Amino acid sequence: MDKIVIEGGHELHGHIRISGAKNAALPIIAATLLTPGWHTLYNVPDLHDIRTILSLLATLGVVWEKIGPGTIRINSADLVSCEASYELVKTMRASVLVLGPLLARMGRARVSLPGGCAIGARPINFHIQGLKKLGADVVLEQGYVEAAVSGRLSGGTVYFDFPSVTGTENMLMAAVLARGTSTLKNVACEPEIGNLIDMLIAMGAEIEGRDTDRLVVHGVERLNPAEITIIPDRIETGTYLIAVGAVGGDVTLTDCEPVLLPALTEKLRIAGLELQEGDNFFRVRGRGSLASVDIKTMVYPGFPTDLQAQIMALMIFADGTSFINETIFENRFMHVAELRRLGADIKVDGASAIVRGGSRLTGAKVMATDLRASASLVIAGLAAQGVTEISRIYHLDRGYENLVEKLAGVGAVIRREKDE
Ligand code: EPU
Repeated sequence: MDKIVIEGGHELHGHIRISGAKNAALPIIAATLLTPGWHTLYNVPDLHDIRTILSLLATLGVVWEKIGPGTIRINSADLVSCEASYELVKTMRASVLVLGPLLARMGRARVSLPGGCAIGARPINFHIQGLKKLGADVVLEQGYVEAAVSGRLSGGTVYFDFPSVTGTENMLMAAVLARGTSTLKNVACEPEIGNLIDMLIAMGAEIEGRDTDRLVVHGVERLNPAEITIIPDRIETGTYLIAVGAVGGDVTLTDCEPVLLPALTEKLRIAGLELQEGDNFFRVRGRGSLASVDIKTMVYPGFPTDLQAQIMALMIFADGTSFINETIFENRFMHVAELRRLGADIKVDGASAIVRGGSRLTGAKVMATDLRASASLVIAGLAAQGVTEISRIYHLDRGYENLVEKLAGVGAVIRREKDE
């Protein structure tokens, strides 16, 4: 297993190219199950989670090939199975995204129930209830969701108690091939869902309401293969903006979409970062002194839960106290104990964390617990005095393409080593 070793205190200067969004690529890859033929996906990030979903699709009979940097072709013409096994689903919850498209195309799907994970219980009851509303029989047997329908799914109305991201994506992929019209209410409108909708429309689906909390899907009898470019990863973008804020420097992020980070940019400007944004770039300058800001995570366009750990790391260096309220996941403060090992003054009270800023961090050995928690440790390590060693970095490999290389390229003293 590898670890990351960081010598803190070096400012960041230069350019970082932002990769395609993991959470957009995953549902789009799943959507290729909806119809046979060669689909082409551009700007696909080279990440562990992407390899996992491609391995899962391969077990179903899907073939794929890389035909250029970030470009893959996928064909699901010869499906041989409708089952996502526990062994694969337990390594990546997003595997549940095959449920909707498999059921829509094949009339059945058997997908292992994902268990809880480091950030919360994360049930999939909305996915199951939604599929039932479209006429599927769904039972839970031996840890698997078994869904079946004779003939096609039928259009229906689905109301989400909470706007679930992958829940919305699964229902969209189920509804596009249903007989009749489906109305999906109180859905999530994260940009990654917009990217999936663009893919589905390119495939011939009829969907109204993109970027709103109400989607109307007119089911079609068949879809066709399509091509799509994966949108830039807004969470990777935000992570690097925050890193520059914590360490200082002057960095331009290219190939990103600043418009996708409305809440973060507002907070970073109040905190005192200089941000310049264009259609596809961000220039960020960290000036040293930082003001504290309060954060409440919310569904898009609110402050993303996937940046909560990282902004907490930034607030350690701010003047004053910051209140951080996590409203999406019930257990997403695993990074706090590790940040404290570096010297941070953070208290957790239920769903809130209170960060007393102004601590001087000193390097230590810490452990990554989930993807975004790991990113917060990298940020803290870059700004700490001395050497920080982060173990269990396979979490980072799931969602950040070439993180070590990208940071080293702008002057961070960071390397990967074998963890003995
Ligand atoms: N929820 C339920 N029942 C459901 C579905 C969700 O109660 O059937 C609850 C969850 O437990 C949670 C809330 O609803 O409390 C929101 O969860 P959501 O379903 O929106 O999360 P997700 O779809 O499982 C995606 C991202 C996450 C990101 C969340 C929130 C993907 C593959 N994953 O997860 O990304 O944190 O939306 O924005 O898109 C990450 O990239 O590090 C990551 C965890």
